[in-house]
This record gives sequence, structure tokens and C-alpha cells, in this order.
Amino acid sequence: MTAEATAVAVSLESVTKDYGDVRALDGVSWAFPRGGFTAVMGPSGSGKSTFLHCASGLDRPSAGAVRIGGTDIGRLSETRRTRLRRERIGFVFQAFNLIPSMDVEQNITLPLQLAGTKADPGRVAEVARRVGLADRLRHRPSELSGGQQQRVALARALVTRPEVVFADEPTGALDPRTARDVLRLLREAVDLAGQTLVLVTHDPMAAAWADSVLFLSRGRIVDEMTSPTVQGVMSRWESL
Ligand SMILES: Nc1ncnc2c1ncn2[C@@H]1O[C@H](COP(=O)(O)OP(=O)(O)OP(=O)(O)O)[C@@H](O)[C@H]1O
Ligand SMILES: [Mg+2]
Repeated sequence: MTAEATAVAVSLESVTKDYGDVRALDGVSWAFPRGGFTAVMGPSGSGKSTFLHCASGLDRPSAGAVRIGGTDIGRLSETRRTRLRRERIGFVFQAFNLIPSMDVEQNITLPLQLAGTKADPGRVAEVARRVGLADRLRHRPSELSGGQQQRVALARALVTRPEVVFADEPTGALDPRTARDVLRLLREAVDLAGQTLVLVTHDPMAAAWADSVLFLSRGRIVDEMTSPTVQGVMSRWESL
């Protein structure tokens, strides 16, 4: 691996994504440092989810290149891209994407099942406890509140200790205290385990936990703020 590949977890080079005649991403270039926590903010429809989907290999850009740990994922076959994603990426979807017929524990351990590895019961218990769901392991998603479902999705993304975690508004449905617990958990994944985190949020309080905040507008990165504060993020947000 080159020095750049080890310092950069994920990079995008002139990434454009069109949905029919809608240009959701417009020539975005960015390098996410390994072991960094980056928040992504922007108005609804500015391309945040599209940005995350392209950066994580869930979706293919219309043009441009995405590299994960130095590998140009556009050059991989569908099968190898899926495998790379399973082995190295954790994703928390905006719409949770839990499996309704599976209980909480089965949903959390799904990535391990898909990767063909056995769940370490200690690890599963630990992430369930950290997201406050230790006593809900036998419940199905339909029996949980929206915030609880969001936390299952988060536990599922963290259970394999992926190199990079992409989270699309993981605190959107949470009360302030639970949101703080979840953000602390994510911050620790970066500080203690050296994982790379990219988090989309509308909440300046959540963004202030990051090392750096990217502002998206109409499919472009229009600003970056390092060492963000709640006040600083709020005033930048208002001028977007
Ligand atoms: N599958 C799709 N088909 C067509 N258009 C899409 C599709 N996905 C997204 N778009 C469009 O691309 C643009 C960017 O959407 P995206 O979901 O990335 O926005 P967002 O910033 O995540 O918004 P929000 O804050 O509401 O989640 C929007 O105009 C949206 O309508
Ligand atoms: Mg979105």
C-alpha cells in the first residue's frame, strides 16, 4: 500500500451522480483521513445520502472514481465490491433497513452471517449494551420505537468493527440524551479503535462532535469547517 492509501481511508475524485435529469452530485472530490470523524451537512436534497452511497460503494457514480483504502472500487466486479463492503464498511441507513422477520440480535449479527463468520457473543452483548438494547434482543423491529430501531441499525454497523462507518442521520430519531450516548459511542470508535467515521446530520450539536464538517449545497462541497463548534456550525448553516 502507498503512504497515501494508508493515510486516506476513502477518496472521491470528480464524482458526479445523475438520476435521470437530476444531478445529485456535481463533480465532488474529497479525501477522508483514516481515523477521522467527518460530519456532512446541507439542506434536504443537497446530495448527502447520494454522497454517502457513492463513497461507500453502495451506489455507482455516473462519472469519477471512488477509492476505499487505495482500491478503485469502480474497477471491481459487483461480487468483489460487495465483498469489500461487507469486510470493511459499516453503513447506518437513513431508513434503518432492518429485517422485519428477524429479532434484534439477528439483525445486529446479520453482517457477520453474511460474511460467514461466527458472532462473538461477547462482542454482540457489548454493542447491544452500548446502544442500550441489551434487554431487547428477542424483540422484532415492529415492536421497537423509531429511536430503538435506529440504535439496532447502529449496532449492526459497528459489530464487525469496520474500517469505515458511514452513518446517515443516526441520531435523527433520538432524544437528546440518547443522541449524546450514540455520539459518544461513535466518537470512541474513532478515538479508541481508529475507525473512520462519516456522519450525515442536520443537527449542529451532532456535527460539533466531528473533527471536521463538510457543507454540501446542490451536489457540491461548498465549505469545510475544522474543529467545529455548535455556534460556528449554526451560523455557517444559516448562510448556506
Ligand atoms: N433514486 C433516485 N432517483 C431519482 N432521484 C433521486 C434518487 N435519489 C436521490 N434523488 C435526487 O437527488 C437529489 C439528492 O438526494 P439525496 O437523497 O442525496 O439528498 P439528501 O441531501 O440526502 O436529502 P435529505 O436531507 O432530505 O435526506 C434530490 O434532488 C433527490 O430527489
Ligand atoms: Mg438523505
